[in-house]
Amino acid sequence: MPSFLLHRRVHRASALCLGAFAVVHLGNHLTGLRGIEAHLAFMQAARVIYRHPAVEALLLASAALQAWSGATLLRRSRLRNAANPVIALQHWSGAYLGFFLLVHVAAVLVGRGFLSLDTTWYFAAAGFHVRPFAWFFAPYYGLAVLALGTHVGCALHRRLVSTTQVPPLRQAALLLPMLGAAVAGGLIVSMLAGWLYPVRVPPEYLAPFGG
Ligand code: HEM
Repeated sequence: MPSFLLHRRVHRASALCLGAFAVVHLGNHLTGLRGIEAHLAFMQAARVIYRHPAVEALLLASAALQAWSGATLLRRSRLRNAANPVIALQHWSGAYLGFFLLVHVAAVLVGRGFLSLDTTWYFAAAGFHVRPFAWFFAPYYGLAVLALGTHVGCALHRRLVSTTQVPPLRQAALLLPMLGAAVAGGLIVSMLAGWLYPVRVPPEYLAPFGG
């Protein structure tokens, strides 16, 4: 099998696993709309599944494979498809997601392994509450959710191009996931930053930021 096809298959297979987790994960963050306690209760229940050693190994392997196969596909197709705006959008959103995934998962593992923190809501919120780190964390998390919706939308749009001749359907397939992600990202960042209700982050989470 040509290596381009192999990378594409690996990218799609790992996307399925990571995508299923992302739905639960972002759904978990949105339960914060009902308060931090609701968010923590949902996380405790969801962790029973995604913290199971076999599931977590599969998830972490998927994150690594997703970033690696995506970087390879990006390198190969960038020059050939530079003029197509949907492909360009898919490349930019994919590149940001790859960067985010590596930094995000490494931060969670360092938080758990080296800082002995329980990586809950407060772990994600801490950076928002020590100046000047909020200037980094607001776009860092907000863009990650937007990039995810954009990447999914681009993939749906490209798939529909080969199967349907109905342009509004293709546009909706691209724009709806982007719009949904922009709203979800804005809400999650607003909650973490304490703009929707007061957030009191325990000192052990602020300490790594010098707070
Ligand atoms: C606003 C956006 C996000 C926030 C605030 C956030 C926050 C967190 C937190 C607090 C954890 C630790 C969970 C735990 O200990 O149970 C975590 C883990 C993780 N996140 Fe995110 N996340 C965000 C977006 C994403 C996205 C878009 C992805 C990509 C699919 C992602 C992938 C992961 C992965 C793979 C883990 C490791 C799970 C584990 O093994 O414990 N996150 N995230």
